[in-house]
Amino acid sequence: MNEIAVTVVLPTYQEFESLPSLIEALKEVRAQELQHLQLIIVDDYSDDGTEQLIKDFDQEWIKLVIRKEDRGLSSAVIRGLQEASTEYCVVMDADGSHPASAIPAMVQAIQEGADFAVGSRYVLGGTTEDGWGMLRWLNSKIATLMARPFTKVLDPMSGFLAFRKTTFEQAKELNPVGYKIGLELIVKCGCKQVSEVPIHFSTRQLGQSKLTLGVQFEYLQHVIRLLRYTHPKLVSFFTFATVGLSGAIVYLLALNVLTPLFDERWEGIGAAVWVAMTWNFLWDRKYAFWYSRSNIVAQYLGFVAVCSVGAFANFYITNLLAASNAITYSGFIGVVVGSVIGIVFNFLVTRLLVFRK
Ligand code: GDD
Ligand code: MN
Repeated sequence: MNEIAVTVVLPTYQEFESLPSLIEALKEVRAQELQHLQLIIVDDYSDDGTEQLIKDFDQEWIKLVIRKEDRGLSSAVIRGLQEASTEYCVVMDADGSHPASAIPAMVQAIQEGADFAVGSRYVLGGTTEDGWGMLRWLNSKIATLMARPFTKVLDPMSGFLAFRKTTFEQAKELNPVGYKIGLELIVKCGCKQVSEVPIHFSTRQLGQSKLTLGVQFEYLQHVIRLLRYTHPKLVSFFTFATVGLSGAIVYLLALNVLTPLFDERWEGIGAAVWVAMTWNFLWDRKYAFWYSRSNIVAQYLGFVAVCSVGAFANFYITNLLAASNAITYSGFIGVVVGSVIGIVFNFLVTRLLVFRK
């Protein structure tokens, strides 16, 4: 018998049918190994009989939290973890995919020095029940690959997790978006040593999966957020370069649209430069320098001032060439030369002066 205190956090949404067998399995773990195991169920107002079910079980080690305001798997997990008061925490699914019998081994991995343990399908000894469609399999593989920049864990998509409560408390800027709370915790808690405990991942027997297309889109957003967190400068620079490229295309389009509207050609060129510069500013502010949210007017003026070096070079060259060449060709040369002059200068200066943290 073991004195270790563990809280299992169980996010549920309409898992009335699956809960009884999971609770039985947890009872078994309590009887065999972890007699101080506690269960916190965080239910997002399923209203499917879960509440009555837990009342009927009438076990002091089971606590049910029903949320009516918030919604979502990750935020439910975070809520449960905040309520936990034991040294160790475990997170798992309620649908029977995760074997409760693996909990002791996962907790042991932490005791033996790991920062974090995941129940893993892909580590040696782990298995996945047949019947996963090709699509779900491919999906899982792609999602796993996208997590590579953050962790070498073979199954970073796992929702079966164990760690110390103090590890959770170290988390910086936790963002409960999407389904992948395990990945989020590994990154934001700064976990270096992640241990993978092999599990057999069963297919859900009862009820329905909550994984929808929206969830996959959220995962994409999640990966971008994590990249911004772990590699902010790189993300800034690549986004800035991409916006710059789009700005060049906008410039060429604007030249063709605007120059015929003005009496003097230079006026149309100037207007196109202004359109492209404003375009760049808006997207750069939104995506390349997401972390900087000071006064937009002041930022715009600063941006224009700094970009004026490249912008003026562009304007001058376009105007010069347009006297004897087609406008698109002139604009192209102008914007390329202007960009080369401007890009390094603009990036460094806007980053240092305009978009300060
Ligand atoms: N409270 C709450 N709120 N719980 C939720 C919500 C929600 O909005 N959405 C889902 N859950 C609960 C479910 O009731 C279940 O216990 C668990 O979260 C996982 O939901 P499933 O619907 O079974 O998800 P899945 O099978 O697609 O995804 C699982 O497998 C992935 C690995 O393939 C989850 O474990 C993921 O975390 C895991 O990454
Ligand atoms: Mn499931």
